[in-house]
Amino acid sequence: MLHFSRNNLCLAFFLFSYSLDALDNGLALTPPMGWLAWQRFRCTIDCETFPDECISEELFKRAADLLVSEGYANVGYEYVIIDDCWLEANRSAEGKLQADKKRFPNGIKALAEYIHSKGLKLGIYEDVGTKTCEGYPGIEGHEEMDANTFAEWDIDYIKIDGCFIDERRMDKGFPQFGKFLNKTGRPIVYSCCWPFYQDWKGINVNYKLVSENCNLWRTNGDIQESYSSLMNIVDMIALKQDSWVLNAGPGHWNDPDMLLIGNFALSYEQSKTQMALWAILAAPLMMSNKLSSVRLEYKSILQNTDIIKVNQDKLGIQGRRIYKDQGIEVWVRPVEPKSEKYYSYAIAFVNRRTEGTPYLYSTSLRDLGLINPEGYIIKNLYSNHTVSKFLEPNSLIKVLTNPTGVVFLKARIVTKQQRITKYYEEIKNNLFLFM
Ligand SMILES: *[C@@H]1O[C@H](CO)[C@@H](O)[C@H](O)[C@H]1NC(C)=O
Ligand SMILES: *[C@@H]1O[C@H](CO)[C@@H](O)[C@H](O)[C@H]1NC(C)=O
Repeated sequence: MLHFSRNNLCLAFFLFSYSLDALDNGLALTPPMGWLAWQRFRCTIDCETFPDECISEELFKRAADLLVSEGYANVGYEYVIIDDCWLEANRSAEGKLQADKKRFPNGIKALAEYIHSKGLKLGIYEDVGTKTCEGYPGIEGHEEMDANTFAEWDIDYIKIDGCFIDERRMDKGFPQFGKFLNKTGRPIVYSCCWPFYQDWKGINVNYKLVSENCNLWRTNGDIQESYSSLMNIVDMIALKQDSWVLNAGPGHWNDPDMLLIGNFALSYEQSKTQMALWAILAAPLMMSNKLSSVRLEYKSILQNTDIIKVNQDKLGIQGRRIYKDQGIEVWVRPVEPKSEKYYSYAIAFVNRRTEGTPYLYSTSLRDLGLINPEGYIIKNLYSNHTVSKFLEPNSLIKVLTNPTGVVFLKARIVTKQQRITKYYEEIKNNLFLFM
């Protein structure tokens, strides 16, 4: 067990005001939210056997319909994003990209029009190399024409993968395509898989270059349908956090990949854990699920507006794991509102223990680095029935966390003025239980 850097916590967060130059396209000022086909639907192209699941214009139109009718659009999910396997195997006679004619009979521009008519935005996928990961035509050698094609189709977001290219050439390829996107004049969110591939090949990633050229970028390999895949990614992020958190900010985000929530593998507790951690990490919130059959309790996690608010916090400071103790990991993220000296915080207590009983963990706000002398209002973001509590830095709190689950709190600062003008129950040094 470790209690490292508790005392340096506030100092560490002040360093966050240092910021890299971002891609200057005015987009993704908060982490993008939406729905992306890959994790749930992969490269399903057999529409006869899988009419409801194959990569086709129908799949994306249905996703758009459901984002609206099931209330997701209302809480911020905005982008409907096509992944691999949408292309014809060959370019047109003029060399242009073309969508599979059977599965996208009306073409991408018509699909964009449909998505836009729902008040949503359309994203699409390509690859910086000669082929996409599934072997369809890549953009290498056609960058300018392809950027123009996407703009002509009214695309709003593009994810560029990194298969079939020498990873060392990515430092040229990704910025070059970004320049062509910019030249089209159409605002298009630019999502890059660039750093992950280089990291994987042992190449030192130039994150300054990445964040100057991309709105978001994948830091890790694809998430897979399991709790262990999820937590492997989380552990890797914790390992690299000292450098990675500094790369994130409005317009430029680390992307740990899609939400698994609503699919097969994650339990209810584990789903709550992913949603809380993705909020702490200022991660893009990209669902990849069958929206017609997401069970109500999972839907309520995906649509938890308190948690979405943490994710979408305007300060754009990525949070981090501050310590682990007794199998409980404590993750915190500074958020609004802030005073001159102190932030509010989102705090996730993530239970990594595996015995069958919930675990009771206690700590003080001060030990978490929360030292605003006027105190905080604490709210349990996953509980409808706990009322908010006023606590001072020395107050002790206890959290009861379920195995593989999370207790997720928001600590909103109380200002001196509020403390003077409002009545707060004096509960100094009392013990509060959150579960
Ligand atoms: C499609 O491209 C492949 C190579 O990628 C080529 O072998 C094939 O002849 C092309 N087919 C058509 C119809 O152009
Ligand atoms: C293109 O880049 C310029 C300079 O960075 C920026 O001001 C402009 O908003 C960009 N345009 C688009 C469409 O991204």
